[in-house]
Amino acid sequence: MSELNGKRIFITGSAAGIGRAIASLALEQGAQVVVSDLDAAAAEATAAELGAAGTASCDVSDEAAVQAAVAEAVGILGGLDVLVNNAGIEVASPLVQQSTESFDRIFAVNVRGPFVATKAAVPHLVESGGNIVNIASIAGLGGSPLLGSYCATKAALIQLTRVTAVELRASGVRVNAVCPGFADTSMVDRLRPDFEGATQVPFGDLVAAKQGRLGTPRDIAEVACFLASDRASWITGSSYVLDGGLTASLV
Ligand SMILES: NC(=O)c1ccc[n+]([C@@H]2O[C@H](COP(=O)([O-])OP(=O)(O)OC[C@H]3O[C@@H](n4cnc5c(N)ncnc54)[C@H](O)[C@@H]3O)[C@@H](O)[C@H]2O)c1
Repeated sequence: MSELNGKRIFITGSAAGIGRAIASLALEQGAQVVVSDLDAAAAEATAAELGAAGTASCDVSDEAAVQAAVAEAVGILGGLDVLVNNAGIEVASPLVQQSTESFDRIFAVNVRGPFVATKAAVPHLVESGGNIVNIASIAGLGGSPLLGSYCATKAALIQLTRVTAVELRASGVRVNAVCPGFADTSMVDRLRPDFEGATQVPFGDLVAAKQGRLGTPRDIAEVACFLASDRASWITGSSYVLDGGLTASLV
């Protein structure tokens, strides 16, 4: 497969889970990838295992660190064609019981992170005619108990996607989002006990009833890599739902 032949891609939070799957598929499709993560050692290990071009790690909530990581990635890759804003965290808590510090932290990672990474990457993307893929969530489209602040961050990311796409259209930079349902990563492993406690329904039954099965990181990578490719050249400002029909169903 060569859909991403020669594309130079920087992916935040890509040591594990969905970000790692995007890195892996992008490499299979001919891209050059720089892996980045809060956990720099895990990023190094992932980059070595996958055969990535290198690493440029940062905490996405730290603007100076993000600017430095984007500059490092551009140095490794010789430019930038695609930014994937994947890094994100979850908090499982009834909204009114969540501490304000925890609320601020999830916004710093899930919203400020993509914002500052976008600002750092855009001059390079304008130069290359590149694009941005934001990893949002169906939690940005509807409410879920226990995920109030997470839902709000993902709704914000969908809106950032739309506005950035419109503002950057004339410069030739596309911006899109994917909105996955529950996918098989450590994030969902962490959420599982809280959901079971709140609903009194086994998590597997909830997933089977609402979305057929858990998504795989690869399911999400397939669409992220399509959006990053030139095959998606007329697609910008869009948010793609990948959820086995969860949001389509009223019952
Ligand atoms: N797993 C799901 O069901 C699901 C569904 C919808 C959307 N998402 C979104 O997909 C993205 C990836 O989620 P995942 O399930 O792979 O999660 P994960 O927890 O399995 O992996 C997230 C990765 O991001 C890194 N990370 C965390 N905080 C960071 C920070 N501040 N700066 C840089 N890196 C950081 C972690 O170290 C980890 O390697 C997130 O934005 C998440 O909200 C996940």
